[in-house]
Amino acid sequence: MKTKIVAGIALLGAFALAATGCSGSAGAGASGGSGKMITVGFAQTGSESGWRSANTESMKDAFSEANGFKLIFNAADNKAENQIAAVRSFINQGVDAIVIAPVVTTGWDDVLKEAKDANIPVILEDRTLDSSEDLWASWIGDDFKKEGETAGAWAAKTLGATPTNMVVLEGTTGSAPAQDRAAGFSSAIAGTKIKTLDSQTGNFTRADGKTVMEGFLQKYGKQINLLFAQNDDMGLGALDAIKAAGLTPGKDVQIVTIDATHDGLQALVDGQFNYVVECNPLLGKQVAQTVKDVLAGKTVEKRQTATDQAFDQNQAKTALPDRKY
Ligand code: AHR
Repeated sequence: MKTKIVAGIALLGAFALAATGCSGSAGAGASGGSGKMITVGFAQTGSESGWRSANTESMKDAFSEANGFKLIFNAADNKAENQIAAVRSFINQGVDAIVIAPVVTTGWDDVLKEAKDANIPVILEDRTLDSSEDLWASWIGDDFKKEGETAGAWAAKTLGATPTNMVVLEGTTGSAPAQDRAAGFSSAIAGTKIKTLDSQTGNFTRADGKTVMEGFLQKYGKQINLLFAQNDDMGLGALDAIKAAGLTPGKDVQIVTIDATHDGLQALVDGQFNYVVECNPLLGKQVAQTVKDVLAGKTVEKRQTATDQAFDQNQAKTALPDRKY
C-alpha cells in the first residue's frame, strides 16, 4: 500500500515536470522548503553549439545546491514559443527568480509583465531582448556588436583592399547575436572592396552550417574568397563542405568566426580558420551573484558586459592548452 502511494506521488511529480516541459535538479516550489534555498527557473535557448554547452555547464555549476540554489532548468530547443511556455511555468511554480537567455529579441512583453505582476525578478543572461527595461532587473552577457566589428575589422584589414566575395552564415534569425554581429561586421567593412554574395541562417549549428555552405558553393563555386560564420560551429560545419568542393579552407576560402571555443581555436591553429573572435560563455558565477543581490534588494548594474578577446593563429596556439571550453 505504502509503495503504491509513493509510486503515485512519483508519477504525479513526473507528470507535473513533463507538463511544464521542465527538468532539472529541483522540483517545484518557491524556496525548496528549507527557507534558505533560492529557487531559480532558467530558460536556456537549447543546445545548438559548443558555446551553449559551456554556458549551460557554467550556469548549472553556479546555481548548485551547494551555492544555495534549487535550479529548474529548461532548454527550449531554440523555439521561442517553448521558451515563453517555460517562463510561464516558472511563474506558476512560484520560483524566486527567473533567468532567461532569450532565443529571439521579440515577443516577450506579456510574459515579462506576468512575472512582474507576480513579483518575480527577471535576469537576462547572454542575449538581450526588446522589451521595456523596467521588465527586467539586469543583463549579463557579451557585446555582440563589438564582436562583429572586431571580426569585420580583421576582414577589412586583411582583404578589404582587393575585390573579395564573401558569404555569411548567420545565427538564429531574430536573435540578438545574429542581428548585432551582422550590424557590427557591416559597419567595419563599409567602404572596402568586400562584397556580400549571399547571407543565410545556419541556426548556429554545425549541421546547418555545412548544408548552407554546400548551397553557397553550388551557386557561387570558386568565386567565394571569404566566409564570415557568426559562430564557430557553423564555420566548423562549413569546413566539410569546402573540402568536399575541392577547396582548401583557410587558403581558397578565408574564414573568420565568433566564439573561440576549443574546437574553433583548434581549427585556427590547424590553419583552417584565419581569425576567431571570443564570446565568453562562462557567465554563471556573475549571474548567480546578480540573482542573490537582486533578491537582497541591492542595487545592481543594469548591463554587465563580459570582456572578450580575439585570436590570430599564434595567439590561438598560446591559448589552446588552457582553454576551458
Ligand atoms: O548567444 C551566443 C551565441 O549563441 C553563440 O555565439 C552561439 O554559439 C550560441 O549558440
